[in-house]
Amino acid sequence: MVTVDEFIPEAEAEIQDEVGDGHAIIALSGGVDSSVAATLAHRAIGGQLTPVYVDTGLMRKGETEQIRETFSFMENLRVVEAQDRFLDALSGVTDPEEKREIIGAQFIREFETVANEVDADYLVQGTIYPDRIESDGEIKSHHNVGGLPDVVDFEGIVEPVRDLYKDEVREVARDLGLESIIAERMPFPGPGLAVRIIGEVTEEKVRVARESTFIVEEELEEYEPWQALAAVIGKATGVKGDNRVHGWIVAVRSVESRDGMTARAQELDWETLQRIQSRITGTLDNVSRVVYDVTHKPPATIEYE
Ligand code: XMP
Repeated sequence: MVTVDEFIPEAEAEIQDEVGDGHAIIALSGGVDSSVAATLAHRAIGGQLTPVYVDTGLMRKGETEQIRETFSFMENLRVVEAQDRFLDALSGVTDPEEKREIIGAQFIREFETVANEVDADYLVQGTIYPDRIESDGEIKSHHNVGGLPDVVDFEGIVEPVRDLYKDEVREVARDLGLESIIAERMPFPGPGLAVRIIGEVTEEKVRVARESTFIVEEELEEYEPWQALAAVIGKATGVKGDNRVHGWIVAVRSVESRDGMTARAQELDWETLQRIQSRITGTLDNVSRVVYDVTHKPPATIEYE
């Protein structure tokens, strides 16, 4: 890459050039790539950009509030409150791939609605170099918003960070003052907490996955895992007070990895594990058991679905 100082004005000029006096739209995920693309586009074309953040209800704790705060300088920011629609669409669905498809399709519907409303001509995307380069040249199938260009008839697609590697995007983010986004912890999957819930996604299970993931990320920060998470994997008998209860089993997972392709389960000390257990069972009275996953990838995957 050219230096960051050169890159930013060049990227802005390119965006202005491509969009002209049209209107552009971008899906913000909360990740660093789309955040940088959106900020560059906003600097370049200001009110001609509509950034869209879809709250699927499957986000991490505090994520939506953080987006609102970080991007409050963007006058057209749209936060789409779609939690109920995602939950409805997922009702009764237990197959992992079907869940992913439903989430992807619902996301596109939500985004399309806004794109039509604001009459968007251009789609800005935070695609980075590694997203474009798979061994066979295909775009990664689980790229978060991979289906977008196909559904809305855009005049053009603008990808201001398409030639950058992740560390370069982070450098640009820092220069743009997006520290809170970079500091924003560990990778988080596009389908969100749904892949941390085995079987049907319900409001109750989402709450367990969200609170538990929050506790796990917080408690394990000092171990600097590549990714740490909690998943709702089933039900088990327990005792709470004087009663036997049939509560949720929460699996805790913390892995070291370079790129997510392979991973090693992290060795944690007993006190940390116990603290996580007691915080989770103390916060969530419908959780009866917490287990720690010691499986590497392979044979396990990082997420549960
Ligand atoms: P797995 O579970 O396949 O995860 O070992 C590897 C990495 O990819 C993330 N992941 C996803 N990211 N959409 C995404 O954007 C998905 O459907 C998805 N599934 C897994 C996972 O969090 C881990 O970082």
